[in-house]
Amino acid sequence: MSLIHFDVLILGSGVAGLSTAIKTAKALPNAKIGVITKSFENESNTKYAQGGIAVVWDKLDSFESHIKDTMDAGDQLNDKEVVRMVISEAPERLKELIAWGAEFDFDHTGDYDLGKEGGHSANRIIHHKDITGFEIESTLLKQVKNLPNITTLPHHFAIDLITDHHVNKKIKSFKEESIKCYGAYVLNQRTQEINSYTAHKTVLATGGAGQVYASTTNPNIATGDGIAMAYRAKAKIEDIEFVQFHPTALFQPGISPAFLISEAVRGFGAYLVNKAGERFMLAIDERGELASRDIVARAIDNELNTTGEDCVYLDCRHLDFDKFLEHFPNIYEKCMTVGINAKKDLIPVIPACHYFCGGIEVDKAGHSSIDNLYACGEASRTGLHGANRLASNSLLEALVYGHNIAEDIILNEIEFKKNEPKVPQWDADGTLAPKELIMIKHNRKVLQTVMSDFVSIVRSNERLEKALKRLDEIYIDTEKIYKNAKLSPQLCELRNLNAIAYLIVKQSQKRKENKGAFYSLDC
Ligand code: FAD
Ligand code: SIN
Repeated sequence: MSLIHFDVLILGSGVAGLSTAIKTAKALPNAKIGVITKSFENESNTKYAQGGIAVVWDKLDSFESHIKDTMDAGDQLNDKEVVRMVISEAPERLKELIAWGAEFDFDHTGDYDLGKEGGHSANRIIHHKDITGFEIESTLLKQVKNLPNITTLPHHFAIDLITDHHVNKKIKSFKEESIKCYGAYVLNQRTQEINSYTAHKTVLATGGAGQVYASTTNPNIATGDGIAMAYRAKAKIEDIEFVQFHPTALFQPGISPAFLISEAVRGFGAYLVNKAGERFMLAIDERGELASRDIVARAIDNELNTTGEDCVYLDCRHLDFDKFLEHFPNIYEKCMTVGINAKKDLIPVIPACHYFCGGIEVDKAGHSSIDNLYACGEASRTGLHGANRLASNSLLEALVYGHNIAEDIILNEIEFKKNEPKVPQWDADGTLAPKELIMIKHNRKVLQTVMSDFVSIVRSNERLEKALKRLDEIYIDTEKIYKNAKLSPQLCELRNLNAIAYLIVKQSQKRKENKGAFYSLDC
């Protein structure tokens, strides 16, 4: 077991973590920056983003209009100052990304092609075909490789933050506002060692937690580790009940993660129809298929419950096929691999868990409620999204907060001169080899089923109570294994998913009014 020190330790290598690392490394060439990531460097929600980045680019569009759309989608629970800051910084952050090498599609006039998605009153989505996230992730990783002061550590799993609870063990209880972060305990998945990574500044950029549900568009890494770690360290977690379900994931029972059919497809003109071929959205919202995500997902849920069908359909057959293919080659190819030709066939779709609007509460500079701990990207709750995120505002939020955190770290560089904090090593005494992998796998499945059945698009007091009981059982099982077995990523993820599920249920129970993505039959 060793102790490794960085000036800045970043957990996560999606758009949030990498953009923070690049900006900090460029401004502070003598600072040592570590990026810890639990899988391959590029594995992240970012890599799978399709639609694009929302930016006011067209001369006829305006910041005011993007602000209004963001607030309307968020059911006015957004922090308006934050909304204004993020939206007005967007063009600068986009130009920076382009300067770093990201390529986006042009239209026939030679300017950027601007797509449209639900809840937007203007075309303002900058994109790279239907694989925008892949383009961004690759661009950022190329930048990182050229910066000698960034060390990336793939297949390193962050287990817990190092805080005063570990460093000052004699103190029995801490005032929440005075807790400090000193880095993180990290499992090297190749050597199986748990090492202490200390840092003056730690940034949680660990993404969302879609894997808490049985059906999600999120890859397997999205287990809410950072939010759960911050929660255990007593950071403030807010708005976690606002879980966004994307209306149109490809319907393939038993396949997880679910493949996303981008909202940009509806922005391009596709219709949502039921089995009878009827467009049901027009009766629900005047924006039809382009109402905000919470409204469309609930309408589909209702359609499925009232018709008893398993899915609804996207109808693309009336669209200009050559242009469709030009915009959505990846979606077209994926559909073809499962025998669906979007030119001739309807695409079966269902809602799937997609995005966490809440998370670790941060201020405009990305500070969490714990000293020396920042959070950004999907793991954070900035106030931008309110009760429901506007499409394509997430990549944008991550870029803006990556920038803000880097600026704040640069201002506080002086703190790097402090002595390295002395922290104890991870206590792995008495832990046995894990014999319980089957229990862990089983409990993860049960937890996902409980959340999908009882804490999904439509909730109720009774369903939340039921969920809580089942989660308690899983918690007891998991803690028993945790106390006796050697730590594995699977076990840590189960603990983290359980913490996230518990937070969603508890915060749902507190909410008394239906807002945005939160809907209870009892409110
Ligand atoms: P991520 O990109 O998820 O990165 C998290 C990183 O943390 C990963 O590297 C992960 O391995 C690492 N990590 C997690 N836990 C640990 C741990 N314990 N130890 C070490 N490392 C850890 N948003 C848009 O704005 N526009 C879109 O078009 C869009 N399309 C989307 C399509 C799909 C299919 C999905 C799933 C999401 C989409 N989103 C979109 C949402 C957006 O992609 C994400 O919200 C955003 O990319 C999150 O970035 P992030 O850096 O915060 O997290
Ligand atoms: C999509 O392409 O539909 C996803 C966009 C987003 O999540 O913002």
